[in-house]
Amino acid sequence: MSIWKRKPLALLLAEASDSEKGLKRTLTAWSLVALGIGAIIGAGLFVRTATAAAQNAGPSVTIGFIVAAIGCALAGLCYAELSSSIPISGSAYTYTYATMGELLAWIIGWDLILEYAVGAATVGIAWSEYLNNLLVNVLHTSPIPYSLSHSPFQKVLDPVTHQVIEQGIINLPALFIVAVISLLLIRGTQESAFVNGIIVVVKVAIVIMIIVFGWSYINPVNHTPYIPESSIFTDEHGVGHSYGGIMGILGAAGTVFFAFIGFDAVSTAAQETKNPKRDMPIGILGSLAVCTVLYILFAHVLTGVATVEDFRTGGKEASVAFAIGKYMIGYQWLAQFVTVAILAGFSSVILVMLLGQSRVFYAMGKDGLLPKAFGDLHPKYKTPYKANLAILVIVGLFAAFIPGDIVGDMTSIGTLFAFILVCISVIVLRKTNPEMKREFKTPLVPFVPILGVLVCLAMIYGLGWTNWLRLAVWLLIGLVIYFAYSKKNSKLNNPDKDIQK
Ligand code: ALA
Repeated sequence: MSIWKRKPLALLLAEASDSEKGLKRTLTAWSLVALGIGAIIGAGLFVRTATAAAQNAGPSVTIGFIVAAIGCALAGLCYAELSSSIPISGSAYTYTYATMGELLAWIIGWDLILEYAVGAATVGIAWSEYLNNLLVNVLHTSPIPYSLSHSPFQKVLDPVTHQVIEQGIINLPALFIVAVISLLLIRGTQESAFVNGIIVVVKVAIVIMIIVFGWSYINPVNHTPYIPESSIFTDEHGVGHSYGGIMGILGAAGTVFFAFIGFDAVSTAAQETKNPKRDMPIGILGSLAVCTVLYILFAHVLTGVATVEDFRTGGKEASVAFAIGKYMIGYQWLAQFVTVAILAGFSSVILVMLLGQSRVFYAMGKDGLLPKAFGDLHPKYKTPYKANLAILVIVGLFAAFIPGDIVGDMTSIGTLFAFILVCISVIVLRKTNPEMKREFKTPLVPFVPILGVLVCLAMIYGLGWTNWLRLAVWLLIGLVIYFAYSKKNSKLNNPDKDIQK
């Protein structure tokens, strides 16, 4: 039994052609770009832009967006090569199994839980915040009580006496949306290209409206200095963040990196793309390019309209609607429209993330690294329902009991780690399998992948030691499970054994 055993490419590609039965090559470059934007624009932009401005960079959060976009573009070029050459479910997990062996594949599969499952929980928590915003500001009813819409780690202190006046217990709305979407996925209800298209148009329209209408409300005072001087900002959990200067920009890049997560979901559609060689890079890099331009302009306007102090105290997760409501007099309708549209937009992001997670669990269940039951399909709906139910429990626990910024940073660091392994996989695979047919080739290998690794490492550095520790603990738990369970049950390592359920 070897922890370095690699899954043979021939076997992978055979599985790919097996799973291709029934899948039609219908997606064009444009539908891939739309798919990407549908998965990309969400809580990262509408929630974490303000968080990064408050905690890390002030107005220079825009530069943070540029750094994050460069890291994503470099990793995106590597994803494009691997997804067009190994078009099979499991994405980064599968690429690593083929290139760097079982242990690293397990680590990446375990790590992808941070990207997809914890990411879905993060967006679920943001959904909960915007639901309260909808109840209060659009429907003019009472909000869901603080205790039932926040995690036990969140509280509100009296500014004068510092007594606790509100204490969270459980985030029920976040749990609710995660449960509803998980059940929809089990029923096989996927967003059709049509519905996804509508949500994309609405999301992009809102972002453009905020940029256009908000531009004249930019107060130059809020942009001065554009890069604040270096200092330390301590948040309400007592965690210190580097604020201002280069470290502030890197910290902001690590925080808003979340806003780009999802473009790699395009890579999972490789099997359904008409012309993957041409369309994959367009889909991945095109959706990234569109979002980067929108994000920079949006962040410039948002940090110009409201002050950093606003982002630290008022509105919190619903800070965009808060900023419009407070400063853009006459645009109350826009704040209301933003709230409704963001709720719809978040739902589609959660759906794509839960879908991605179930594909990874499905692949790992089939390989025996997770219980084989995760590879079972529902007899009627043909969905990996046992994987979906397990994911519902995991994501539900995160959504109900952990604060949004903590799960958000865990998602970012987990995804950055996955990107690093994808970049390395491209270099390794060029050496070990030079003859493999590559539909799309990452340019300037090994320069582009190495630069991708370095930029992702810089963002991991910017996320700070609390998050490094969280990632290390998470990976350690994963290693314990691997040696206690997965290694013994791996199909590749135990070809003759009837894998236990
Ligand atoms: N990029 C996605 C979002 O921002 C995950 O919600």
